[in-house]
Amino acid sequence: MTDAQGPDLAAVRQLNKTISARRSVRSFEPGPEVGREVLAEIAEAGRWAPSGANSQPWEICIVHEPGPLAETAGLLAAQADRLNEHCKGFPHVHKKHWVHQSVAIFVVFIDVRWADAYPVANDSEIDGAEYAANRDNILLVSAGAAVQNIQLAATAAGLSSAWLSGGGEPQTARELQEALGFPDTHVPFGTVPVGWPHRRSDSRWRRELDDVIHWNGADAGRLRTRQDIDHYIEKERRDSIYRDAQTRQELQEGRDASRQEIDPVDDGA
Ligand SMILES: Cc1cc2nc3c(=O)[nH]c(=O)nc-3n(C[C@H](O)[C@H](O)[C@H](O)COP(=O)(O)O)c2cc1C
Repeated sequence: MTDAQGPDLAAVRQLNKTISARRSVRSFEPGPEVGREVLAEIAEAGRWAPSGANSQPWEICIVHEPGPLAETAGLLAAQADRLNEHCKGFPHVHKKHWVHQSVAIFVVFIDVRWADAYPVANDSEIDGAEYAANRDNILLVSAGAAVQNIQLAATAAGLSSAWLSGGGEPQTARELQEALGFPDTHVPFGTVPVGWPHRRSDSRWRRELDDVIHWNGADAGRLRTRQDIDHYIEKERRDSIYRDAQTRQELQEGRDASRQEIDPVDDGA
């Protein structure tokens, strides 16, 4: 028997305050020292993430001592330089290497061998057609849950963070493995610099709640079209990643472009 209080909507709303306060910030500045106790508590949030088959396929490496921190930041900065060189169509990530101002970098390594702990069909043909690819999905989304929890806990501590996916690129992955002493079974799918934000951004653009909910089945009229996606990539992506919601809207409407100079959320401008 439950004790029939009904769902605690107030608690959900309170939790959603922290969730919606989380913001990717790509510009840090020096601030008060953040000790191991706080960093470990942030990792604790990652530990409690759900994972396929409760495999907990992660190792959470917290890099915070000056030497390893500088080396890890340097690898991420070099990765950003390569990305800017090779992926010209992707909005410029940053000009300054703000990662060097991190108080710590959480590197979530995933032991890819854990994919074997997820469903494997007895018949190899069916396994290939039906299950094999989903094992990789399960591994990756498990990693995502851990990284998300880490970001939320950093937010609760008053810090900010950014989720950098470049650690999963082969060259950077190899370099991080070598620098931090992890074997090649462990891939750094989530790299999360944490620091004191250079400025706080109140909000980031999100689709409206009514646009994302499909009650009991697809509301086909609200599914975005290929054209919508192409439009986003071409016209909206940069402002959606790097601007606060209000500045984004003004820029999208062609209004008050002067704000562009004074109110970028981070160094992505
Ligand atoms: C899987 C994943 C990978 C991401 N990779 C990067 C990245 O490599 N560099 C970066 O600056 N931001 C990265 N982000 C952050 C997104 O750009 C950001 O979450 C999004 O623009 C929404 O902004 P918000 O986090 O402030 O709400 C990533 C986010 C996710 C979930």
